[in-house]
Amino acid sequence: MTYIETKNLLLRPVEIGDAANLAEALNDFEVARNLKNVPTPCRPKDVLAWLGRTVHDRSRDNIAFIIEVEPMKLGGLIDFGKTERGVNIGYWLKKQYWGKGHMSDALRAALDWYFLEDDRDFIVSDIFEDNFASRKLQANLGFEEVGTCQFNCQTRGETVTAVDTVLTRQAIGIFGGRAMLKLATDRIYLRPPQVDDAAAVTAALSRYEVAKDMAYVPHPYTLEDAETWLAKQPQISPPYQQKFAIFTHEDQFCGMTGFTEREGFPRSAIICIEIFGAKA
Ligand SMILES: CC(C)(COP(=O)(O)OP(=O)(O)OC[C@H]1O[C@@H](n2cnc3c(N)ncnc32)[C@H](O)[C@@H]1OP(=O)(O)O)[C@@H](O)C(=O)NCCC(=O)NCCS
Repeated sequence: MTYIETKNLLLRPVEIGDAANLAEALNDFEVARNLKNVPTPCRPKDVLAWLGRTVHDRSRDNIAFIIEVEPMKLGGLIDFGKTERGVNIGYWLKKQYWGKGHMSDALRAALDWYFLEDDRDFIVSDIFEDNFASRKLQANLGFEEVGTCQFNCQTRGETVTAVDTVLTRQAIGIFGGRAMLKLATDRIYLRPPQVDDAAAVTAALSRYEVAKDMAYVPHPYTLEDAETWLAKQPQISPPYQQKFAIFTHEDQFCGMTGFTEREGFPRSAIICIEIFGAKA
């Protein structure tokens, strides 16, 4: 079972038991008018057929996550589904949660998960032309609008023009600072290293007592050394190559950890732990 956590949200796999709450949320016209296939009224049994397929498959191209903004309460949904254009991502949030950045947060986390877990290089979506919130949301994440199509919107009872969109692995990489993988414990959090970390890394690695125990660290260590190395670190790597910078929850830099692919053993890794810097 996959659970995705962000600072404010939990994304958990959808369950058959969610049918009644999903149907209730989808009876809100303001939500359903932006979605394609929601009947009016929407009853739990209308949700169940789709839910049954998703719950029993749960592959990366057929999975749905309930978004919990408040613990144990259904706040919205993100789903991945196979289409002729590729794997499609869809989403909605209950109206009471709109306008607080929750879907930006949820989509970033879900897309990070998707691109880390899957080898595919892009994901697709479509948005009704008049859904400006969703178009802004996707543009912020690096989606590109690539065409238009027509969909019958059951809720509106009419054909509506939609914009086809695509998000590539490269685009989310470029947007890596925003679409960031973040792992947290009670005391620290880990995220991919960025060029902005150069000063903190230099301060740590300039200290002889730190650098003396580490292979491949030039001495003296300069800001340029740090910037050169950090610029080469992708935001999103395959799991067996991913590197992390370590911080306290007060954003004090502590060190680095991560995985280096093991020579001769593709896709298996050696973990490197290089805790240095502040005494956290
Ligand atoms: C679309 C939806 C998911 C957005 O969720 P949200 O949590 O309110 O979105 P966020 O708060 O993360 O905001 C996303 C961006 O849209 C912008 N935005 C919000 N309303 C907007 C509007 N009416 N016009 C233009 N931009 C708007 C926000 O300012 C934000 O951009 P910014 O970060 O650059 O300021 C939510 O409104 C919803 O569930 N709508 C109904 C269902 C739906 O439309 N699903 C998507 C189908 S494609």
